[in-house]
Amino acid sequence: MTTTYGDAPGAGRRAGAPATDELSAAERLSTDELRALQLERLRWTLRHAYENVPSYRAKFDAAGVHPDDCRELSDLAKFPATTKDDLRQNYPFGMFAVPQERVRRIHASSGTTGKPTVVGYTEDDIDTWATVMARSIFAAGGRPGHKVHVAYGYGLFTGGLGAHYGVEKLGCTVIPASGGMTARQVQLITDFRPEVIMVTPSYMLTLLDEFERQGIDPRTSSLRVGIFGAEPWTEQLRTEIEQRANLDAVDIYGLSEVMGPGVAQECAETKDGLHVWEDHFYPEVVDPLDGSALPDGEYGELLFTSLTKQALPIIRYRTRDLTTLRPGTARPAFRRMDKVTGRSDDLIILRGVNVFPTQIEEIVVGTAGLSPHFQLRLTRRDRRDELTVVVEAQADTAADRRAGAATEIAARIKDGVGVTVGVDVVDPETLERSVGKLRRVIDQRPSD
Ligand code: DLL
Repeated sequence: MTTTYGDAPGAGRRAGAPATDELSAAERLSTDELRALQLERLRWTLRHAYENVPSYRAKFDAAGVHPDDCRELSDLAKFPATTKDDLRQNYPFGMFAVPQERVRRIHASSGTTGKPTVVGYTEDDIDTWATVMARSIFAAGGRPGHKVHVAYGYGLFTGGLGAHYGVEKLGCTVIPASGGMTARQVQLITDFRPEVIMVTPSYMLTLLDEFERQGIDPRTSSLRVGIFGAEPWTEQLRTEIEQRANLDAVDIYGLSEVMGPGVAQECAETKDGLHVWEDHFYPEVVDPLDGSALPDGEYGELLFTSLTKQALPIIRYRTRDLTTLRPGTARPAFRRMDKVTGRSDDLIILRGVNVFPTQIEEIVVGTAGLSPHFQLRLTRRDRRDELTVVVEAQADTAADRRAGAATEIAARIKDGVGVTVGVDVVDPETLERSVGKLRRVIDQRPSD
């Protein structure tokens, strides 16, 4: 097998110079320039994967396609998709395309079952990642000289370290708080006065509660920008957080298999979905059932192909995330994806009706008398699945208002989502709090 693991064409990395407060050259490309760059990089990626990863070669051969068959971007659809299962079957390092001595870092994402998915990065990959993260933080409103509090978890999870390197690359000061020790986080924010916070939206809610518990109005904190991701969150939650914390809340998306955080980012000036950093990650949307390509504007499953990654090139990775692609706005060359409101995995099919947890979030958050903390409990009675929305009351909510809120939510869910659910309004501070990614659905159905 030949070893063509050099640089992706036109990569131009390793510059190491601190970013200025202007858009990068890539963000100013015309659409034609971008498409030409993507094609060149795509052809490199397909060759790199085919020549260095036996499982890609086997899959391409079985499908009767060769990297030379990719003459235009639309030819990518001829190539087989990659799934989490492919990575699992090649656990831990079987899909790496470079010798181990070139791998500088490993991350892993813990699946719900079995072995984690392992991903690797060369030195250049880490630099690419820092570059796209720096771009993301800038788009969110972070500027060189700002202090950035990173409360995504550090470790095998890509959130903490991914954010960290981007903060440094942009020329900001990083405060590597990681997740947990909530009271101390509030103290650090109060004392160090960061302008920017990067954290899951659910943990941000936990932090806001802690500010209030300590008698500090979070609106008086130094925070002006919140970069929230790693889990789905709604416009309703954006409003709640922005009002309680007096900051701009923007969405960041990413996944370990494709890189980590910083694959797509919402711009502070438009807050209209996430621009995909398409010079490094090529998006497609397909029908989740049969994998056929869908045009921009239609909802389906998001796929990504990496365009510059060396250690773990990824071809048409099926994210299971549901969204659509739209033309760029604040960064015109790059398409936007709608906020991811659900993964096909999170879908609850309740007596035949599809329910995503975010649909419930839209209804619960902002209801008078209720906190934004809620869980979805799935149980089974008489062979019938039941869903109960367990939601915390606010501290000063009277008993009759609790009952009124429960009835109101059940009616709005019946109306808007089309299912009958139970609603249980419980005392404040009784539900499990998130310190990272939130576990929204508690499935208590017997496994039969
Ligand atoms: O969650 C990477 C990340 C860290 C993104 C920090 C943003 C901020 P994984 O652990 O591999 O990586 O999980 C990836 O999380 O396929 C989505 O289902 C979900 N996800 C990530 N960002 C968002 C978002 C990181 N902004 C999986 N909205 C993805 C909705 C998101 N879901």
